[in-house]
Amino acid sequence: MTDTAQPTATKTDTAAAFKTRVFSGIQPSGGLTLGNYLGALKRFVELQERGAETIYCIVDLHAITVWQDPAALRRNTRELAAGFLASGIDPTRSILFNQSQVPGHAQLAWIFNCVARMGWLNRMTQFKDKAGKNRENASVGLFAYPTLMAADILLYHATHVPVGEDQKQHLELTRDIAIKFNHDYGVDWFPVVEPVIEGPATRVMSLRDGTKKMSKSDPSDMSRINLTDDADTIARKIRKARTDPEPLPETLEGLEGRPEARNLVNIFAALADITPEQAIRQVAGKQFSEFKPMLAELAVERLAPISRRMAELMEDPAEIDRILGDGARRADAIATPILEKTYDIVGMLRTRGD
Ligand code: AMP
Ligand code: TRP
Repeated sequence: MTDTAQPTATKTDTAAAFKTRVFSGIQPSGGLTLGNYLGALKRFVELQERGAETIYCIVDLHAITVWQDPAALRRNTRELAAGFLASGIDPTRSILFNQSQVPGHAQLAWIFNCVARMGWLNRMTQFKDKAGKNRENASVGLFAYPTLMAADILLYHATHVPVGEDQKQHLELTRDIAIKFNHDYGVDWFPVVEPVIEGPATRVMSLRDGTKKMSKSDPSDMSRINLTDDADTIARKIRKARTDPEPLPETLEGLEGRPEARNLVNIFAALADITPEQAIRQVAGKQFSEFKPMLAELAVERLAPISRRMAELMEDPAEIDRILGDGARRADAIATPILEKTYDIVGMLRTRGD
């Protein structure tokens, strides 16, 4: 997304006022990684800074598609809220809330369960990965996960959804649901959303295996950098990151077939706010023994203030709860009229009058 991230963009008098509304979500399933930060949070902040209307959601209903201990879920929800705030989300300019406090998400998801087809959901690779071999034992919620995600987005008529590469298929499904709903009911109601998958870090890879995504669920803690890691831990993980014996090449083409090296260059670029092309020019010819300390220093410089701020914020959970409550009320005010109109289109009789 380039300059379309402005709140309103009316090019001519005849063009309809086009409002950019950004929505995205992260699961409170414990621990934020450098992948979440570079692929999602950092970009959420950039969109806020560019003046778009931004709505960010802690998707607790999605988290319980796999087992969550209730006390841990509450703590992880607050910790993720602290992660958003510490990364630079300003709760007066963005709406920040947890999904379960706005009932419309689950309500619209039910309608979408009746729009989406079994065949569409059967193709979702995230379900296949998460369900593993024993699909019979996966929750129904895990299978229906993408219809809830479509509801999250379409409940606000969001137009742009910043996510990492791994969410692309879910966004395509969201588009398919919007198109089928509009077609089935003969309306032009739900927008067809634009995925915003851009920048050098849409897929941050594991530090132990450059062909695997960096993930909070990887059994090896050395495979990822957590936003809560202290400076020494960050430096040690980067020093120990798997690489190959060659020095860094002059161009990005030279990184082909070297996924670990490519990953570290991408991370460097994303942290330094430069392109991978600019990054490789800066480090061309260097050995990893020289590049890794540079990368570690930059990572500590960028991440340490965030983890410090997260820890401070976690000392006042009541303030976090207040921010989420306020965000939920503001989100609900946008969502309720859209949900009511949707029920009306579907033919649900609404007679309570409240
Ligand atoms: P999750 O933690 O799975 O809820 O993901 C939250 C957001 O972080 C989504 O937009 C993901 O696409 C993004 N994300 C997660 N892992 C990575 C990664 N390794 N690289 C880039 N983005 C990621
Ligand atoms: N499925 C996303 C993930 O695992 C999280 C998510 C839920 C989301 N609802 C969303 C992302 C709506 C963007 C928009 O990363």
